Amino acid sequence: MSEYLDRAFSPASLGKLPLKNRILKAATYEGKTPDGVPGDLLLDSHKAVVAGGTAMTTIGSCTPEADGRINDQMMWIHEGNRAPLAHLTKALKEVAADVKISGQMMHCGNFSKNRKMQRLKRPLGPSRQFNMIGAPSGMPFAGSMRISDIDYMVQTYFDAAKTMKETGFDAVEIHFGHGYGLSQFISPKTNRRSDEYGGSLVNRMRLPLRVLEAVRKAVGDDFPILGKMGMTDGVKGGLQFAEAQEVASLLDAGGIDALICSGGTSSFNPMVYFRGDTLDKGLIEVEKNPITKLGLKLIGPKMFRHYPYKELYFLEDAKKIRDRVKCQMIYIGGCTELSSVETVMKEGFDFVQMGRPLIKDPAYVKHAMQDPNYKNGCIHCNRCATLIEAPEGVYCPENVKQA
Ligand SMILES: Cc1cc2nc3c(=O)[nH]c(=O)nc-3n(C[C@H](O)[C@H](O)[C@H](O)COP(=O)(O)O)c2cc1C
Ligand code: SF4
Repeated sequence: MSEYLDRAFSPASLGKLPLKNRILKAATYEGKTPDGVPGDLLLDSHKAVVAGGTAMTTIGSCTPEADGRINDQMMWIHEGNRAPLAHLTKALKEVAADVKISGQMMHCGNFSKNRKMQRLKRPLGPSRQFNMIGAPSGMPFAGSMRISDIDYMVQTYFDAAKTMKETGFDAVEIHFGHGYGLSQFISPKTNRRSDEYGGSLVNRMRLPLRVLEAVRKAVGDDFPILGKMGMTDGVKGGLQFAEAQEVASLLDAGGIDALICSGGTSSFNPMVYFRGDTLDKGLIEVEKNPITKLGLKLIGPKMFRHYPYKELYFLEDAKKIRDRVKCQMIYIGGCTELSSVETVMKEGFDFVQMGRPLIKDPAYVKHAMQDPNYKNGCIHCNRCATLIEAPEGVYCPENVKQA
């Protein structure tokens, strides 16, 4: 095994958290929490990853409040889920005592089609806007958050992070990207506020930094906080790379332990972060709402622009961010082949997060440690990503074909 693969498969520390290797499972919303409750379906999918040798798995959609969910099947962190969450983390550690568990804290902001809101009547973001995803289910507009809504959101992050620590999570990951709540504040396209939360980048970063501060207060200094951010929104008028570098610096100065640099937004240009086959065809197949189906047929080709897949598609930009920050860096985006793991290590990244490679083969680490010629086999068809609302949730149809 080369020096760099050896580094990838050797123990390392994330902040003060010891990890058995440098391969981490990326947050990939599982779609496996019927009625928002984490049960066996979710547990089984992470059990496979944990048994497969990955150092830390990430539970998707640890949403800090019920109304921060894209749909009513997404999990959120609250007292009612405390026992199932504690069971989840305990059961995963029974599979591998040395595995660590992180949870991605994601609030969708105005990107929601959840008709079962509890506190709100419609989704809220930084500014009033057309709600494309909610329109087919009768919520064509998202509102603008008042200061009291902003304060409330910060408090929910504090409460959720505290609950996650208390229920056995070892780390949390705050989602600052992909066009969800905090990213809507960072992006000049979606944040058109004229108060202290809009305008300059310092103002647009005020809420994300308040959230980081609140989460830090909740979990303490020794508990790793990861941040997933965008390096571009991939849309005119949105966040561009030059400003994203400033975002990284501000998060670094705000005390983030590690950054994961992605890009694109689910609302305007999701293929920036996926690459490979576009999602529209698969989404049309699984969509039940006839209006959404029609909408996807009409706007799909414009929304899901084609970006051909290539390995390590975020590497060059992520290296530029790496050079500006002191925190640890976790590479994400098309690190599928072992040669790519080697490159990422050689470039000095501390860890790698893998999404699709671990959906394709949850035992990636075990297999790769046994076989220097290991091939993962993910073909970047992105069918898994079209299954997030399918009854059984996300899986790899390629594996079913090959079985
Ligand atoms: C099925 C699926 C669900 C995803 N859900 C999330 C999510 O909940 N949060 C997130 O930040 N990224 C999500 N992503 C994006 C991945 O975390 C990752 O950024 C992307 O797949 C690129 O990494 P990869 O090439 O290793 O797959 C998802 C990706 C897939 C395939
Ligand atoms: S469905 Fe399977 S092969 Fe296709 S992108 Fe997802 S993990 Fe890769």
